[in-house]
Amino acid sequence: MISIPAPALAIHGGAGALDDPGTSGLGPDAPRQEGVGRAAAAAWELLRSGGSALDAVVLAASILEDDPTFNAGTGATLTRDGHVELDASLMDGATLGAGAVACVKDVRNPILLARAVMERSGHVLLVAEGASGFAREVGIPAWPNDRLVTPHQRARFDAARGVKPPAVGGGTIGAVARDRNGHLAAATSTGGTFLKRPGRVGDSPIIGAGTYADDRLAAVSSTGHGEPIIRVTLARLVADLVGTGRSASDAAAEGIRILGARAAGQGGVIVVGPAGEAGFAFNTPAMARAWSDASGAIRTAV
Ligand code: GLY
Repeated sequence: MISIPAPALAIHGGAGALDDPGTSGLGPDAPRQEGVGRAAAAAWELLRSGGSALDAVVLAASILEDDPTFNAGTGATLTRDGHVELDASLMDGATLGAGAVACVKDVRNPILLARAVMERSGHVLLVAEGASGFAREVGIPAWPNDRLVTPHQRARFDAARGVKPPAVGGGTIGAVARDRNGHLAAATSTGGTFLKRPGRVGDSPIIGAGTYADDRLAAVSSTGHGEPIIRVTLARLVADLVGTGRSASDAAAEGIRILGARAAGQGGVIVVGPAGEAGFAFNTPAMARAWSDASGAIRTAV
């Protein structure tokens, strides 16, 4: 008898504070939990009807980019000069294909541009004006930066002038999945840290730090303070731990322990292993998340 791999899915909506919109910028808990649940439901439907892991993570990420609750796409945090600069990446565990964009100001869904980079550019990472020029070449229309800025983020920016910003880049979004062919994929998207220096690039578009997928290891998406996450190459670290035989949950917990112990980092990860087990860990007070459990049901939590 041929056994068909069961699909698996995990999604995050950022590691950070609990309901504390004044300082964290993450927004209240309920919309975050509902938001990851909505994205998970759509991606889960696609996976269960035979869709690919790559299509599922891109669908989930684009839904979350369009949800103003999250720090990605519409609703992203502002740089210190008052604009939005978006970073995103994705990786296909079957081929090790990868695509990423950073410091993009004029695209509604940077995850779709990252996919175009992977599939059509011959490169892995494009940034700033070069990424925007490539977007126009492949038919992704210009999107005004003002339309990415929500009233909540503008008010937060106005209120925070002269105040030290919080360290954690919360509200980043990510998705990891396994499909019925046993292939893995991962995607991550963010506006980065609040009041970041223009041109700053965090972990989310860095393959191996924010995103990693290899069918032989695991699919991983990171969230949290990007600089420590880059230093420990968190996504690849967790994928390698799965490769040594740890469960997705154990690998996630060990990766976050190392992030804290070696780089004083704050953040979280979601993982799907090659056998289809979902896991997550975080060392912040909260991480909005959704995942498929062993019975094939979607669960959500903050
Ligand atoms: N993890 C998001 C960032 O630091 O940019």
